[in-house]
Amino acid sequence: MAQFSGASDVPDMGRRQFMNLLTFGTITGVAAGALYPVVKYFIPPSSGGSGGGVTAKDALGNDVVVSEFLASHNPGERTLAQGLKGDPTYIVVQEDKTLANYGINAVCTHLGCVVPWNAAEEKFICPCHGSQYNTEGKVVRGPAPLSLALAHATVTDDKVVFTPWTETDFRTDEDPWWA
Ligand code: FES
Repeated sequence: MAQFSGASDVPDMGRRQFMNLLTFGTITGVAAGALYPVVKYFIPPSSGGSGGGVTAKDALGNDVVVSEFLASHNPGERTLAQGLKGDPTYIVVQEDKTLANYGINAVCTHLGCVVPWNAAEEKFICPCHGSQYNTEGKVVRGPAPLSLALAHATVTDDKVVFTPWTETDFRTDEDPWWA
């Protein structure tokens, strides 16, 4: 029949559209494949993730591997990783050498400096204006008005996964100011 081409049962128009679709799909696929590393380059590696969670990354952008991490970090250590929204977030090694089930967002609640952990003082002490936070990130000295934000930290497949903390802040028994 006239509207069919050759041995194919696909009508001419349908076939052309189908071929267009295939071609377009192929080009799009190739373009997406070629673009992916470029796009990925400009997006912080920690900004993705499913279900609102992200895998903690070290300073080099590699996933933190829990077994290796625990082998090389001592009880009481607080170590910066990339967390939710790319925020610097502390992974906490507890005294029993397990990871705490929370991460501590390192962004000072005063004006946003990254607050280093001071192991000797056992506090987070902000270098910008001297705010201090205890071992769990609860503010103990201003001018910071609020405690450091929390994230849930769980271990999945030997990786640390941060997810948003929307429940009561266990340090203050108040609703989380950051949620
Ligand atoms: Fe931390 Fe001001 S930014 S004390």
